[in-house]
Amino acid sequence: MNYFFLFFLTIILLFLDFVKKNLRKSKKDPPGPISLPVIGNLHNLTKNPHRGLKNLSDKYGEVFRCYLGDHYSIVVCNRQIINEIYVKNFENFCSRPYNDTFKMFSGDFKDLAFANNYSDWKNIRSMVNGNFTKTNLTKTIYNYLEDQTIQLINNMDKYTISGEPFYPQKQYMKVSINIMCKLFFSKEVLPNESIDNGNMDRISVPIQIVCKELGAGNLDDFVGIISPFLFFTKKKYQKAVSKMINFIEEIYEEHLNDLDEEKPKDLMDMLIIDSKGNNKKGIVHVGFDFLLGGSDSSSGIMEWFTLFMSNNKEYQEKAYNEIVSVMGKNCHFISYNDRPKLPYLVACINECLRMRAEDPLGIPRVAIEDIEIKGFFIPKGTQIHHNLYAVGMNEKVFENPNKFDPERWLTTDQDILKERLNHLIPFSVGPRVCIGKNLSELETFVVCANILLNFEFSSYTGEPIDDIEIFGITIHPPEFPVKLIKRK
Ligand code: HEM
Repeated sequence: MNYFFLFFLTIILLFLDFVKKNLRKSKKDPPGPISLPVIGNLHNLTKNPHRGLKNLSDKYGEVFRCYLGDHYSIVVCNRQIINEIYVKNFENFCSRPYNDTFKMFSGDFKDLAFANNYSDWKNIRSMVNGNFTKTNLTKTIYNYLEDQTIQLINNMDKYTISGEPFYPQKQYMKVSINIMCKLFFSKEVLPNESIDNGNMDRISVPIQIVCKELGAGNLDDFVGIISPFLFFTKKKYQKAVSKMINFIEEIYEEHLNDLDEEKPKDLMDMLIIDSKGNNKKGIVHVGFDFLLGGSDSSSGIMEWFTLFMSNNKEYQEKAYNEIVSVMGKNCHFISYNDRPKLPYLVACINECLRMRAEDPLGIPRVAIEDIEIKGFFIPKGTQIHHNLYAVGMNEKVFENPNKFDPERWLTTDQDILKERLNHLIPFSVGPRVCIGKNLSELETFVVCANILLNFEFSSYTGEPIDDIEIFGITIHPPEFPVKLIKRK
């Protein structure tokens, strides 16, 4: 009898959830697919949620509604409407959603990346930005990037001599982790160490676990009722996050003890001075944001660049020939100032960013108040996801979008070029645009230019390298081996 009652109750609850999810909120709701009880449209996301959501937008339009588990969501793939939401109506859409993963990452929303109200975000963003862009720090980081690039090339040289396959992922990640650690708290994985085993492994190992284990969030951020079933899975990355936070806290204390207010050596010193030593939690978690946001994102673009250049030798040769003809045969190092002279190389990097926006769904936002945007009603509390991958794959702007074709960026028609560049927004847009955009562009250009100057890359197996993404906090190709030949 009791079992029958429970079964009956479950059916009623599922039915009510189904009705609630599919009931229109207003006549102006965007179109969207049927949402199932409990999971909503999570089943439509597939292994690569940015692709799953692009498929839905092909069917329902560039702005569509769906339920991601319990959460009413609007997915935006249209560039103009992204502008309306992220730029023109920014204050209504500045906040992040509240969920357990964001709460843990942010130390109760005290950081920058997950700050979930406008005034907290504005205060911390202007403090971080003001210090991050100071000339001294920029100069130190630029010099350090040059050193790291030279170290990477020296390391890659060994593979040209031994003929062994070169696996780019960890090598590029070492460069990116080091840039972040140097920038934020003057630490580094030493030249003779790897990111899996060295003096910084208390940060570099857990960061790899968090980046790999966690996609756009945790399943129970979407479907609250399954939380107890994920207890052990969550423990794994919670442990990794705590390890990183504890280590950053120790570094904070060291910084506090050695602080020279006249000569801040890194971003952590600058933030301690600015906050008069009264915001340990916020600063530690901003450090965590930088490591999480900056460690495997820029290195991901370097991986895609290596992959697409290996799979498309004709473009690789053209980009290399441009370097030789502009910079001369004896050029030893390409700096960021050389960028305007190398449009073909820039086009190759742009094409990687278009096809593989590293953070394809960005970080979600939430609507503070009811609002109507271009005729669509968006109620208070709606989660907003912009699909940056879909923007770069728009067939009306990029003919044959699945083809890697850097030359589309070299059109002489200025209107077409402007429209294409307007659709290249891997760092998002508006006041909450990625804070690391400039640094990442710098890092990606200097590393890609110099590895191309030094090496010819090709697939080690002779077969085209698999270019499908593995979805995590950022997207990466499956680990792949490359054959390196030293350029004369
Ligand atoms: C290829 C490289 C990168 C890509 C594609 C990327 C992309 C993004 C995107 C799409 C967002 C969300 C913006 C939004 O809410 O609209 C974001 C935010 C953020 N990124 Fe990046 N990012 C990259 C590299 C970096 C680097 C190198 C850093 C560190 C220096 C960084 C730090 C951050 C932080 C702290 C935020 C949060 C900003 C805020 O909420 O105010 N990112 N990034």
